[in-house]
Amino acid sequence: MSRAHYKLRHLDRRFKLIGNNFQVLELGAAPGGWTDYLGERLTMGRVIAVDPLPVTVSGTNVVVLQGRIGEPQIDERLSELLQGRTAGLDLVLSDMAPNISGVRVADQARSMELVGLATDAAFKWLKRGGAFVVKIMQGDGVESWLLETRRHFAKVNLVKPAASRPDSRENYGVARGFLRNPVVK
Ligand SMILES: C[S@@+](CC[C@H](N)C(=O)[O-])C[C@H]1O[C@@H](n2cnc3c(N)ncnc32)[C@H](O)[C@@H]1O
Repeated sequence: MSRAHYKLRHLDRRFKLIGNNFQVLELGAAPGGWTDYLGERLTMGRVIAVDPLPVTVSGTNVVVLQGRIGEPQIDERLSELLQGRTAGLDLVLSDMAPNISGVRVADQARSMELVGLATDAAFKWLKRGGAFVVKIMQGDGVESWLLETRRHFAKVNLVKPAASRPDSRENYGVARGFLRNPVVK
């Protein structure tokens, strides 16, 4: 079992994220550790897994879209798969990460861009009450992401799963209870 697999299992057990008939969007799916876990947990539901790199899939309930979220052709394929309905998913997961350049400011900015793309997808496609999990690096942009996301969900936590390397800045934002109409503060 991969480290990635353990991380998702930890989050799922702690927050009870996944129901067996859920419709799930998974962003940054390659090489397929999370997809594999989802395939086992979803006996009746479906995963749409997105990544420009190949995703290894074993279950029949996984649809892979090879490309980047935010690219028009991927967004179109997603709309087709969800039959044009907005607000149709139970769960949006993102484990997306950029290629690291080693320049901390640039890497943080790129990482927050991916968080923004995942958040847009969650706002667009989640049904009321749905959940969103996103990999997020500690640093600039996290506080404003929390402020914005807390307007849209009943509960938002920032957590570090046990399987994350202790020295990494990696956290996961876990947002539950999607409110289709954001709270005005
Ligand atoms: C840490 S890996 C994901 C590992 C995966 N969760 C697993 O369990 O095997 C991060 C992935 O994010 C993908 N990625 C980066 N930008 C992306 C984008 N715009 N759309 C989709 N995937 C993206 C990368 O190609 C890479 O495969």
